[in-house]
Amino acid sequence: MTTPTQSTPTAELRSLLEDAAAHAARFLEALPERRVASTATADGLRKELGGPLPDETRDPRRVLAELARAVEPGLVATPGGRFFGFVIGGSLPAALAADWLTSAWDQNAGLYVAAPAASVVEEVCGAWLADLFGISQDASFGLVTGCQMANFTALAAARHHVLEEAGWDVEADGLAGAPPVRVIAGEERHVTIDRALRFLGLGSSNLQTVPADGQGRMRPDVLKTLLAESPGPTILCVQAGNVNTGAIDPLDAICDAASEAGAWVHVDGAFGMWAAASPSLSHLTAGIERADSWATDAHKWLNVPYDSGLVFCAHPAAHKAAMGTQASYLVRSENQERDELDWNPEASRRARGFPVYAALRSLGRSGVADLVDRCCAHARRFAGALGREPGVEVLNDVVLNQVLVRFLDDGGEHDARTRAVIEAVQEDGTCWLGGTTWQGKGAMRISVSNWSTTIEDVDRSVAAILRAASG
Ligand SMILES: Cc1ncc(COP(=O)(O)O)c(C=O)c1O
Repeated sequence: MTTPTQSTPTAELRSLLEDAAAHAARFLEALPERRVASTATADGLRKELGGPLPDETRDPRRVLAELARAVEPGLVATPGGRFFGFVIGGSLPAALAADWLTSAWDQNAGLYVAAPAASVVEEVCGAWLADLFGISQDASFGLVTGCQMANFTALAAARHHVLEEAGWDVEADGLAGAPPVRVIAGEERHVTIDRALRFLGLGSSNLQTVPADGQGRMRPDVLKTLLAESPGPTILCVQAGNVNTGAIDPLDAICDAASEAGAWVHVDGAFGMWAAASPSLSHLTAGIERADSWATDAHKWLNVPYDSGLVFCAHPAAHKAAMGTQASYLVRSENQERDELDWNPEASRRARGFPVYAALRSLGRSGVADLVDRCCAHARRFAGALGREPGVEVLNDVVLNQVLVRFLDDGGEHDARTRAVIEAVQEDGTCWLGGTTWQGKGAMRISVSNWSTTIEDVDRSVAAILRAASG
């Protein structure tokens, strides 16, 4: 095949893409039986992939074949049905295929004029998603890399809004000399909130924390007292979906307290916000529509390939003031169509709306609800099967897709025993899950977030866990 310094004939390009499809299909077809954990060492991967930068060019088909072979042992079966670590979704077939097209089309989704289809597809996704989450169609939105950047973007809009109300233009004048901004969050918030506050110059050590209940939900009674203590610009970060327990903060009661105090309410709902898309679970997110901003992911529970986060804001002017930018060469469309860079922290960027659109279009409203419900049913099945075994304790109320399991030790070394079981499960390779510490207790974390997980996957994994626990 020709090298990239010459134009590649169409037939050769087609066979390269067909090779890529064959490599991908081989990986995906092997997923159901593949060992879930990686079998490689970092040094082994370096040996295969590293060395000095080659001077000579190489045929792209050979590059692809060698890359696929060399990385194979270092791949983890995260897109498969028995990966239960962190909160990691797989890729729906339509979303995966649309993601390939996104690369082939290679649109720069920063400005409408450079990529009109990408802009309109995002517009449609924004409207569909707001509908699914039950938030206003007037909310502005952005498609970002993940919930970390969704939290950052939303909190930048919040910072703009609360300071503007205090007579300060933070975009123009920065934070030096600005009225103090009070930030309040639950003690069980996700670390990406602290990180976003650092990025925004609000600092994480100024954060005031509200204690949580036994499931990790913010206590609205304590919040109310805290809010009453001092007036002034206030941003309140709440959570839909605790990363350990899956618990969702009581949003309605929180919004009551916040609206009395005039605080901006931001919902970090990386995965838990998807409960709003399920009629059987949406009671858990009651009041969500009353918030001022929302952050979630498509690459978790919607099962869109990485990297795909979503941010929404009930104050489009604040969102645009925080993110928008102008330059004479950044040509705007005559009809003021959607320019994505006004809603994102990036300028040039991938047209990540295409796979989100394909996921939503292939599932439809009922399919999204079914995906969410199915994962939660699998989580309950895990909890039921493990919890009934002697010496195994389920630590959380399984309200969503997260299960915390603790293995009791006759000598009282429960943390050590739990860690040992987790390691043995990872080593066994039937499934993969990680550990955590929940309210001082070591626990195994099971997160069911993949569209392709079956009841058989759950039962095989339960058997592997119990095997590891009895070994
Ligand atoms: C509640 C919550 N917020 C934010 C994040 C960060 O999401 P991402 O890794 O997509 O940036 C996570 C990740 O698990 C999460 O659970």
